[in-house]
Amino acid sequence: MTSTPYAYRRARLAAEMTRLGGSGSIAIIPTAPEQQRNRDSDFLFRHDSYFYYLTGFSEPKAWLVLTGDGRSTLFCQPKDLEREIWDGIRMGPEAAPATLGVDEAYSVDELAQRMPKLLENKTTVWYPFATHAGLETRIDGWLQQVRARVRYGALAPEVQRDACTILDEMRLFKDAHEQAVMRRASSISAGAHIRAMQRSAAMLRAGQDVREYHLDAELLHEFRQHGSQYPAYGSIVAAGANACVLHYRADAAPIRDGELVLIDAGCELDGYASDITRTFPANGKFTGPQRALYDLVLASQDAAVAATRPGARFNDPHEATVKVLTQGMLDLGLLDKNRHGTLDDAIANRSYFAYYMHRTSHWLGMDVHDCGSYVEPTEIGQVRERTDPLSGELIKDRPSRILRPGMVLTIEPGIYVRPGEGVPESFWNIGIRIEDDAIVTDSGCELITRGVPVDPDAIEALMKDA
Ligand code: GLY
Ligand code: MN
Ligand code: MN
Repeated sequence: MTSTPYAYRRARLAAEMTRLGGSGSIAIIPTAPEQQRNRDSDFLFRHDSYFYYLTGFSEPKAWLVLTGDGRSTLFCQPKDLEREIWDGIRMGPEAAPATLGVDEAYSVDELAQRMPKLLENKTTVWYPFATHAGLETRIDGWLQQVRARVRYGALAPEVQRDACTILDEMRLFKDAHEQAVMRRASSISAGAHIRAMQRSAAMLRAGQDVREYHLDAELLHEFRQHGSQYPAYGSIVAAGANACVLHYRADAAPIRDGELVLIDAGCELDGYASDITRTFPANGKFTGPQRALYDLVLASQDAAVAATRPGARFNDPHEATVKVLTQGMLDLGLLDKNRHGTLDDAIANRSYFAYYMHRTSHWLGMDVHDCGSYVEPTEIGQVRERTDPLSGELIKDRPSRILRPGMVLTIEPGIYVRPGEGVPESFWNIGIRIEDDAIVTDSGCELITRGVPVDPDAIEALMKDA
């Protein structure tokens, strides 16, 4: 029996690569490179997700090598007192077998010398394709060295395969350990959203000059206060019209009384992302038009949540969202019924796209836009061609993924109204998104981000008492 989730995952990867690529399989998985920010300052190091998934090890300059028989070798930074005084404690190869459960470990300085030997007499090399700049070239170099020894009877691998094919599928289904970390990350992020909402109302009540960065500071404070290592992605704190810029970042714009604020922010905890969006009135009280659009987006999210259950397709929550949103756009006069016709017409022609231009969901896990195929693997050959009504482009559709327990996805409908001809002026510059994270369960889904409410009355109530 293997004892940690990491050892279990290594054993599964070894078994899968043996099944698919034969017993002569070997996998090479490096962690991420360190990235220079400017001059002699680096960005804060963030491990590679595949590497961490298999090791739980977050030091830089590390490699995992795994053979089809399940034997694991780690290369990591050697102990070095002088470097450790400057940069911090290193685990070192001597401690790696006991700490990480790997079979062998060596200094990363020995990587180039040992890799050809490890590759000798193997048949298939697995590594993550197109993820690490220069990795293919390094592997080519090691393979050349193995080939140079074939006249002495050594065999060189003949096949290279993408390790992501196996690992993406494994990572798509979150085990109990991963779900527990994701619940914790979500609950920290939920607290951060509440804190930002309350600060906005409190500062405006005190007559202070509120800026987007004030609320960003609240988010960061709450993340770090609870042990999160960093935000899982660049936080969006968008005041008023900035909410209609989908990839806006927390900047310095003033947050004004009477406007909405859209915050899309989530912490990363122990390698796992959370991803929450809430939209709230800066002063704690929705106006009529804001509330009308908010209620619509919330109703569309309710429909998407109801469609998120095992056996349903990944696209079902999106289709449920689009149906509710489009009907609302017709009812509220955002889409002119005389021009856009019935609900079915407006959906078929993608008329809603003027105000809802992104998808409703993505996988969530170690990466905020996590890996995992969105196409159902058992139906990959069923291709349907259609012409996109807006671009005229020919699209090849494949059946969307069937949802299964343990998958984690976001549910994030929105509506973004820019000023324009024929657009009711009362809705101009309103951007609203409501985003929650859902674990697919045996009977439906568990929303793990509802530590911060979505109900508009509940949002008003928590901002009132701030
Ligand atoms: N925060 C990134 C996203 O919602 O997809
Ligand atoms: Mn998202
Ligand atoms: Mn988000």
